Amino acid sequence: MIPRRKTSSRFLLFTLTLLLLINLSAFVASTELEDDDGEIDELLAIDEEEEEDGSADQHQHVEQQKEAEVLTKAQRIVLELNTDSSSRAISENEFVLILGYAPWDTRSAELMPQFAEAANKLKELGSPIVMAKLDAERYPKAASALQIRGFPTLLLFVNGTSQPYTGGFTGEDIVIWARKKTGDPVIRVNSVAEAEKFLETHHIYVIGLFDKFEGSDYEEFVKAAISDNGIQFGEVGDHGVAKVLYPDIKSTSKFVGLVKSEPERYTIFEDAFEMDKILEFLAYNKFPLVTRLTDLNSVSVYSSPIKLQVMVFGGADDFKRLIEPLQQVARKFKSKIMFIYVDIEDENLAKPFLTLFGLEDSDHALVTAFDNKISTKFLLEAEPTSGNIEVLLGYPYSNFSLSECRIFLSFMK
Ligand SMILES: *[C@@H]1O[C@H](CO)[C@@H](O)[C@H](O)[C@H]1NC(C)=O
Ligand SMILES: *[C@@H]1O[C@H](CO)[C@@H](O)[C@H](O)[C@H]1NC(C)=O
Repeated sequence: MIPRRKTSSRFLLFTLTLLLLINLSAFVASTELEDDDGEIDELLAIDEEEEEDGSADQHQHVEQQKEAEVLTKAQRIVLELNTDSSSRAISENEFVLILGYAPWDTRSAELMPQFAEAANKLKELGSPIVMAKLDAERYPKAASALQIRGFPTLLLFVNGTSQPYTGGFTGEDIVIWARKKTGDPVIRVNSVAEAEKFLETHHIYVIGLFDKFEGSDYEEFVKAAISDNGIQFGEVGDHGVAKVLYPDIKSTSKFVGLVKSEPERYTIFEDAFEMDKILEFLAYNKFPLVTRLTDLNSVSVYSSPIKLQVMVFGGADDFKRLIEPLQQVARKFKSKIMFIYVDIEDENLAKPFLTLFGLEDSDHALVTAFDNKISTKFLLEAEPTSGNIEVLLGYPYSNFSLSECRIFLSFMK
């Protein structure tokens, strides 16, 4: 049987807010507890030494050395600011992306090589952006003048005015975001060879086919490219070239589609060519069929417009077993329900949610659902087969009128 319970939606909202706060403060606390590891550059230098000492086979060794060299070169491309040079850098350059860091902060240390890689790539691409870093502990005055308070902080200065960084945190993410905000939001793909190269570098992208790169439809497309924070946009004038990037393309004149590197690779945009409509289309379709929750994507997952979220908690083996049935179900509820997988061993991510169900000591796979619109939670009672997951979703949500809500509470084997 399915026991029925009423939740005070206020209480749940409060709990969720609290959860977010707990997560955030855990984040801050963990960075504060780190030992002083010395300069970031030293950290990187140590990494490089270790690579050189490694007894791995020769080929790998050479590869690693090459990588280290690229990284060192990229480090030099990142300008090191101090109190004087920081205000000068900002006033003398149209675009400056500044990374405010603290030497002891592990998250800064993780970001630094990504930032350096991005600097290298942006330079290669001829971007006008200046990439710079500021040791906020050593130069606290400069840091506070720039309003750098936490670590790491990324700020883009455009003609002296700052805007917060809203992109992702891999080197590739930083490149995409920086180009969007500095006058280079769309990559034009002119030939089949260029299309093949584009495919190699982008796992997820939006492709636009236009007769002419002008007119209001095209302008809306470009505006969406600028406004979006994480997905590379490409534009094509030739149908044959477009086919390389979107094989199933039917239209020969005007087309926008989203491509991802996973099942459900291709999604056509079928609405009016308006910036907001394109952005909405992306918000609903950009996530994989099943998204694995991580520290890096949690904020964008929580802020997804898809408010009904099914969360599967389990270990690596569970995930292997469940991924296919989950994808099957997720395909049916595409852009209506978000499917999220949480590694039950990742306590920071999993525990706050499991606590909501009083299941924090659970060590077996669980399927829950959160409806963040009406602040209600569900727990699947039966075994998590695709059929059962559909029953969980299908029963109250068969037509997505969310009026009738229940809490399904029990355990699974
Ligand atoms: C920055 O200022 C220069 C000089 O006034 C101007 O030409 C340029 O368009 C400005 N850039 C942006 C992105 O507003
Ligand atoms: C949708 O669900 C509601 C509530 O369960 C029901 O009253 C309504 O008839 C359903 N509508 C359709 C079109 O099935």
